Amino acid sequence: MPIIAPSILSADFSKLGEEVRAVENAGADWIHADVMDGHFVPNITFGPLGVRAVRSVTDLPIDVHLMIENPDRYIDDFAAAGASSISVQVEACVHLQRTLAHIRSSGARAGAALNPATPPAALEWVLDNLDYVLIMSVNPGFGGQAFIPSSLAKIRALCDMLRVHRLTLPIQVDGGVNADTVGDIAACGVDVFVAGSAIFGRDDYAAAIQRLRQGAAAHRAA
Ligand code: DX5
Ligand code: ZN
Repeated sequence: MPIIAPSILSADFSKLGEEVRAVENAGADWIHADVMDGHFVPNITFGPLGVRAVRSVTDLPIDVHLMIENPDRYIDDFAAAGASSISVQVEACVHLQRTLAHIRSSGARAGAALNPATPPAALEWVLDNLDYVLIMSVNPGFGGQAFIPSSLAKIRALCDMLRVHRLTLPIQVDGGVNADTVGDIAACGVDVFVAGSAIFGRDDYAAAIQRLRQGAAAHRAA
Protein backbone atom coordinates (compact mmCIF):
# COMPACT_ATOMS: atom_id res chain seq x y z
CA MET A 1 0.00 0.00 0.00
CA PRO A 2 1.30 3.49 -0.81
CA ILE A 3 2.09 5.59 2.26
CA ILE A 4 0.49 9.04 2.38
CA ALA A 5 2.31 11.59 4.54
CA PRO A 6 0.58 14.97 4.89
CA SER A 7 3.04 17.85 5.29
CA ILE A 8 1.98 20.10 8.15
CA LEU A 9 3.73 23.02 6.41
CA SER A 10 0.36 23.65 4.76
CA ALA A 11 -1.67 23.17 7.96
CA ASP A 12 -3.30 25.99 9.94
CA PHE A 13 -0.69 26.61 12.65
CA SER A 14 -3.21 28.40 14.87
CA LYS A 15 -4.76 24.95 15.48
CA LEU A 16 -1.94 22.55 14.73
CA GLY A 17 -3.10 19.84 17.15
CA GLU A 18 -6.56 19.75 15.60
CA GLU A 19 -5.06 19.65 12.11
CA VAL A 20 -2.84 16.68 12.97
CA ARG A 21 -5.76 14.80 14.55
CA ALA A 22 -7.91 15.63 11.54
CA VAL A 23 -5.49 14.13 8.99
CA GLU A 24 -4.94 11.13 11.26
CA ASN A 25 -8.71 10.53 11.34
CA ALA A 26 -8.77 11.08 7.58
CA GLY A 27 -6.39 8.16 7.01
CA ALA A 28 -2.90 9.66 7.00
CA ASP A 29 -0.14 7.06 7.45
CA TRP A 30 2.62 9.39 8.63
CA ILE A 31 2.93 13.08 9.56
CA HIS A 32 5.62 14.91 7.57
CA ALA A 33 7.28 17.77 9.47
CA ASP A 34 9.29 20.31 7.44
CA VAL A 35 12.05 22.00 9.43
CA MET A 36 13.54 25.11 7.77
CA ASP A 37 16.26 27.38 9.09
CA GLY A 38 16.28 30.47 6.86
CA HIS A 39 19.79 29.54 5.68
CA PHE A 40 19.61 26.32 3.70
CA VAL A 41 16.20 27.42 2.43
CA PRO A 42 14.66 30.91 2.33
CA ASN A 43 11.98 30.14 4.91
CA ILE A 44 11.81 29.41 8.65
CA THR A 45 9.38 26.99 10.28
CA PHE A 46 9.82 25.22 13.64
CA GLY A 47 12.31 23.15 15.62
CA PRO A 48 12.13 20.22 18.06
CA LEU A 49 9.41 21.97 20.10
CA GLY A 50 7.10 21.79 17.09
CA VAL A 51 7.82 18.08 16.64
CA ARG A 52 7.21 17.48 20.35
CA ALA A 53 3.85 19.26 20.04
CA VAL A 54 2.87 16.99 17.15
CA ARG A 55 4.03 13.93 19.11
CA SER A 56 1.75 14.92 21.99
CA VAL A 57 -1.36 14.57 19.83
CA THR A 58 -0.62 11.51 17.65
CA ASP A 59 0.96 8.07 17.70
CA LEU A 60 1.51 8.10 13.93
CA PRO A 61 5.12 7.99 12.72
CA ILE A 62 6.53 11.53 12.49
CA ASP A 63 8.78 11.97 9.47
CA VAL A 64 11.10 14.93 10.05
CA HIS A 65 12.58 16.56 6.96
CA LEU A 66 15.52 18.77 7.93
CA MET A 67 16.13 21.56 5.44
CA ILE A 68 18.81 23.10 7.62
CA GLU A 69 22.53 23.65 7.74
CA ASN A 70 24.52 21.75 10.39
CA PRO A 71 21.81 19.11 10.90
CA ASP A 72 24.14 17.06 13.16
CA ARG A 73 23.72 19.65 15.86
CA TYR A 74 19.99 18.97 16.16
CA ILE A 75 19.50 15.27 15.34
CA ASP A 76 19.38 14.08 18.96
CA ASP A 77 16.92 16.84 19.87
CA PHE A 78 14.54 15.87 17.07
CA ALA A 79 14.80 12.17 17.97
CA ALA A 80 14.07 12.98 21.63
CA ALA A 81 11.11 15.10 20.54
CA GLY A 82 9.54 12.04 18.93
CA ALA A 83 10.80 11.85 15.33
CA SER A 84 10.39 8.36 13.87
CA SER A 85 12.47 9.12 10.79
CA ILE A 86 14.81 12.00 10.02
CA SER A 87 16.01 13.02 6.57
CA VAL A 88 18.83 15.44 5.86
CA GLN A 89 19.56 17.31 2.66
CA VAL A 90 22.75 15.86 1.19
CA GLU A 91 23.73 19.35 -0.03
CA ALA A 92 23.95 20.47 3.62
CA CYS A 93 26.11 17.52 4.75
CA VAL A 94 29.88 17.59 4.32
CA HIS A 95 30.20 14.28 6.21
CA LEU A 96 27.04 12.58 5.02
CA GLN A 97 28.00 9.05 6.13
CA ARG A 98 28.64 10.25 9.66
CA THR A 99 25.39 12.21 9.74
CA LEU A 100 23.33 9.21 8.59
CA ALA A 101 25.02 6.98 11.17
CA HIS A 102 24.23 9.62 13.79
CA ILE A 103 20.53 9.54 12.86
CA ARG A 104 20.41 5.75 13.24
CA SER A 105 22.22 5.90 16.57
CA SER A 106 19.56 8.37 17.77
CA GLY A 107 16.95 5.66 17.22
CA ALA A 108 15.30 7.23 14.15
CA ARG A 109 15.27 5.86 10.60
CA ALA A 110 17.83 7.64 8.43
CA GLY A 111 16.90 9.32 5.15
CA ALA A 112 18.78 11.40 2.60
CA ALA A 113 16.98 14.08 0.61
CA LEU A 114 18.14 15.15 -2.85
CA ASN A 115 17.41 18.61 -4.25
CA PRO A 116 16.19 18.66 -7.87
CA ALA A 117 19.72 19.40 -9.18
CA THR A 118 21.47 16.70 -7.11
CA PRO A 119 21.97 13.33 -8.85
CA PRO A 120 21.17 9.95 -7.24
CA ALA A 121 24.89 9.10 -7.60
CA ALA A 122 25.48 11.37 -4.57
CA LEU A 123 24.17 8.44 -2.49
CA GLU A 124 26.02 5.58 -4.15
CA TRP A 125 28.63 5.17 -1.41
CA VAL A 126 26.29 5.63 1.57
CA LEU A 127 23.57 3.16 0.57
CA ASP A 128 24.37 0.94 3.57
CA ASN A 129 23.65 3.86 5.89
CA LEU A 130 20.22 4.65 4.44
CA ASP A 131 16.73 3.54 5.45
CA TYR A 132 15.02 5.59 2.70
CA VAL A 133 15.66 8.18 0.00
CA LEU A 134 13.68 11.41 -0.39
CA ILE A 135 13.49 12.88 -3.87
CA MET A 136 12.63 16.58 -3.74
CA SER A 137 10.45 17.33 -6.75
CA VAL A 138 10.47 21.09 -6.07
CA ASN A 139 13.23 23.31 -4.75
CA PRO A 140 12.59 23.11 -1.01
CA GLY A 141 11.34 26.03 1.03
CA PHE A 142 7.65 26.46 0.31
CA GLY A 143 4.48 24.47 -0.15
CA GLY A 144 2.27 24.79 -3.19
CA GLN A 145 4.99 24.76 -5.87
CA ALA A 146 4.65 22.94 -9.21
CA PHE A 147 6.11 19.44 -9.59
CA ILE A 148 9.36 19.50 -11.62
CA PRO A 149 8.84 16.98 -14.46
CA SER A 150 12.49 15.83 -14.66
CA SER A 151 12.00 14.34 -11.18
CA LEU A 152 10.37 11.32 -12.85
CA ALA A 153 13.48 10.39 -14.83
CA LYS A 154 15.54 10.93 -11.70
CA ILE A 155 13.38 8.53 -9.68
CA ARG A 156 13.85 5.93 -12.42
CA ALA A 157 17.63 6.51 -12.35
CA LEU A 158 17.59 6.01 -8.57
CA CYS A 159 15.66 2.75 -8.99
CA ASP A 160 18.22 1.59 -11.57
CA MET A 161 21.06 2.36 -9.16
CA LEU A 162 19.34 0.48 -6.32
CA ARG A 163 18.76 -2.51 -8.62
CA VAL A 164 22.46 -2.64 -9.52
CA HIS A 165 23.25 -2.78 -5.81
CA ARG A 166 20.45 -5.36 -5.22
CA LEU A 167 18.82 -3.05 -2.68
CA THR A 168 15.16 -2.21 -2.11
CA LEU A 169 15.04 1.08 -0.22
CA PRO A 170 11.73 2.92 0.19
CA ILE A 171 11.57 5.98 -2.06
CA GLN A 172 9.73 9.09 -0.91
CA VAL A 173 8.70 12.03 -3.11
CA ASP A 174 8.02 15.52 -1.79
CA GLY A 175 6.83 18.61 -3.65
CA GLY A 176 3.93 19.17 -6.03
CA VAL A 177 2.34 15.79 -5.28
CA ASN A 178 -1.36 16.03 -6.12
CA ALA A 179 -4.15 14.12 -7.85
CA ASP A 180 -2.75 15.08 -11.28
CA THR A 181 0.88 14.07 -10.62
CA VAL A 182 0.55 11.12 -8.23
CA GLY A 183 -0.08 8.51 -10.94
CA ASP A 184 3.08 9.25 -12.93
CA ILE A 185 5.10 9.38 -9.70
CA ALA A 186 3.73 6.04 -8.51
CA ALA A 187 4.48 4.43 -11.86
CA CYS A 188 8.18 5.13 -11.28
CA GLY A 189 8.21 2.96 -8.15
CA VAL A 190 7.63 5.44 -5.31
CA ASP A 191 6.45 4.17 -1.90
CA VAL A 192 5.87 7.31 0.20
CA PHE A 193 3.95 10.35 -1.02
CA VAL A 194 4.34 13.63 0.86
CA ALA A 195 1.60 16.16 0.16
CA GLY A 196 0.94 19.53 1.75
CA SER A 197 -1.38 21.77 -0.25
CA ALA A 198 -3.10 18.81 -1.95
CA ILE A 199 -4.39 17.72 1.48
CA PHE A 200 -4.49 20.74 3.82
CA GLY A 201 -5.62 22.98 0.97
CA ARG A 202 -8.81 20.93 0.52
CA ASP A 203 -11.96 21.06 2.63
CA ASP A 204 -12.33 17.27 2.88
CA TYR A 205 -9.05 15.76 4.10
CA ALA A 206 -10.33 12.18 3.92
CA ALA A 207 -11.38 12.57 0.30
CA ALA A 208 -8.04 14.21 -0.56
CA ILE A 209 -6.03 11.41 1.06
CA GLN A 210 -8.18 8.73 -0.54
CA ARG A 211 -7.74 10.32 -3.96
CA LEU A 212 -3.97 10.32 -3.59
CA ARG A 213 -3.89 6.76 -2.27
CA GLN A 214 -6.12 5.45 -5.04
CA GLY A 215 -4.19 7.36 -7.71
CA ALA A 216 -0.92 5.95 -6.38
CA ALA A 217 -2.24 2.40 -6.01
CA ALA A 218 -3.72 2.38 -9.51
CA HIS A 219 -0.41 3.29 -11.15
CA ARG A 220 1.97 1.48 -8.83
CA ALA A 221 4.99 -0.03 -10.58
CA ALA A 222 5.01 -3.83 -10.36
C1 DX5 B 1 8.89 21.82 0.54
C2 DX5 B 1 8.56 20.84 1.65
C3 DX5 B 1 7.37 20.02 1.33
C4 DX5 B 1 6.13 20.85 1.13
C5 DX5 B 1 5.29 20.19 0.08
O1 DX5 B 1 10.04 22.50 0.83
O2 DX5 B 1 9.65 19.97 1.91
O3 DX5 B 1 7.16 18.99 2.29
O4 DX5 B 1 5.37 21.02 2.28
O5 DX5 B 1 4.20 20.99 -0.20
P1 DX5 B 1 3.28 20.73 -1.47
O6 DX5 B 1 2.75 19.33 -1.34
O7 DX5 B 1 2.24 21.77 -1.36
O8 DX5 B 1 4.16 20.86 -2.69
ZN1 ZN C 1 9.29 18.04 3.14
